[in-house]
Amino acid sequence: MLRLGFWLLLVSVPLSSAFTPPAILATTVASSTASGAETGTVQQLDVPVNQVVTRVAVAGATGRVGRLVVEELLSRGVQEVVALVRDVEAAEEILGGTDAPANLQITQCNLSSKGQISSVLNDVDAMIWCATGFSQKPNAGPLEKAKGLLDLAMKKTIDVTALPVIGNVIKENNLGGKNPQQLPKVVMCSSAGVTRTIWDDEKKALMPGAADIPIVRLNPFGALDIKRSSEDKLRETGVDYTVVRPCGLNDEHPVGSRPLLSQGDVAVGRINRKDVARVLVDCLTLPEATGKTFEVIGVAGYPFGSIRGALSNLRSDEEGLPPLDAIVSTYTTLQQLLPGEKQDSAALAMGQTYEQLDKDEVGRLGERGKEILDDGAPRPSS
Ligand SMILES: NC(=O)c1ccc[n+]([C@@H]2O[C@H](COP(=O)([O-])OP(=O)(O)OC[C@H]3O[C@@H](n4cnc5c(N)ncnc54)[C@H](OP(=O)(O)O)[C@@H]3O)[C@@H](O)[C@H]2O)c1
Ligand SMILES: *[C@@H]1O[C@H](CO)[C@@H](O)[C@H](O)[C@H]1NC(C)=O
Repeated sequence: MLRLGFWLLLVSVPLSSAFTPPAILATTVASSTASGAETGTVQQLDVPVNQVVTRVAVAGATGRVGRLVVEELLSRGVQEVVALVRDVEAAEEILGGTDAPANLQITQCNLSSKGQISSVLNDVDAMIWCATGFSQKPNAGPLEKAKGLLDLAMKKTIDVTALPVIGNVIKENNLGGKNPQQLPKVVMCSSAGVTRTIWDDEKKALMPGAADIPIVRLNPFGALDIKRSSEDKLRETGVDYTVVRPCGLNDEHPVGSRPLLSQGDVAVGRINRKDVARVLVDCLTLPEATGKTFEVIGVAGYPFGSIRGALSNLRSDEEGLPPLDAIVSTYTTLQQLLPGEKQDSAALAMGQTYEQLDKDEVGRLGERGKEILDDGAPRPSS
């Protein structure tokens, strides 16, 4: 037991700082004793990402998750990182300006254009999707703004239109021939909560702490429904994919927290965007991630180790969700990990933090049920 504990500690060494020596493959690790620990060498559980992919594209590379994904891929030595952006100049500034490394290719791509997507993905091994059609470009003119709102109203945002094209194109690309074991080729950053809007009343009543959080209660612009259908459109392409659904993205939440993976869409809580980026990149290297969808929060105080074990215990989308009582069990456990003291996610207002709730303070958008939503990107408070 002690040995195992030590072992787990060892494998939690961040991949990014440990990719330089050639990898010892997972199979070696799994069947070996703790001899690596005794000799003091650093061993890795997972295959480094630069050994399974050569050219990886990131959609939404200027976004707050996307830029961290780019950084993560670069720091792990991926040969070519293709940042797909709509504004090259802005992207150059965000992604390092003239200091940007040579293996970063900032590429203009209009994600509304099927033709452009197909041409830029031509020789890409894999893609990490971090874009969302719910944010307006900061400098958008009135016409562009109006078009954005119209797309939202018609549920035709880039999420829904681009992901199926991406799936179909990348399905045919061959991971530089290095992928014998069905690794995910498209890893999508989606969102926790996307299925809760269509839970029936009984299910909602069983799990109010998941069904009645602000983002689900208000579901601004039907954003969760749009995301749910974009997930479906990706699945329908038949590409090897992973759908990662983070809970509340929070830049103050400790980096390097344990990613807690769950299924059934009952997770509520926080995760740092840096940890999301790491999970997204890790998925590219793990056959256990293929064909799966999971929610993720970051549990502070426990180190970020390999997610491989957790992933292998998850169900594939083909197998379907566990029965409702199992989902409710997951829910009751996860509710005990809510931030703050009151632990009552259903009592939150949009824009209110758990800490504000504890102190009976009103959040930035006003009282629960009377929140004033701006027309910018709606943000869950969790
Ligand atoms: N906020 C939360 O708590 C939360 C929780 C769970 C999941 N999520 C999801 O996590 C994902 C990443 O979040 P984030 O905070 O990184 O988002 P973000 O900072 O708003 O980034 C969004 C990205 O999408 C790009 N984009 C938007 N519309 C586009 C269009 N029409 N064409 C091309 N690119 C477009 C943006 O490009 P520009 O830089 O050019 O604008 C930007 O790079 C999102 O899908 C979000 O919905 C969020
Ligand atoms: C992006 O492509 C779409 C579809 O071809 C087109 O309607 C739109 O005007 C393009 N947007 C920009 C900014 O070029």
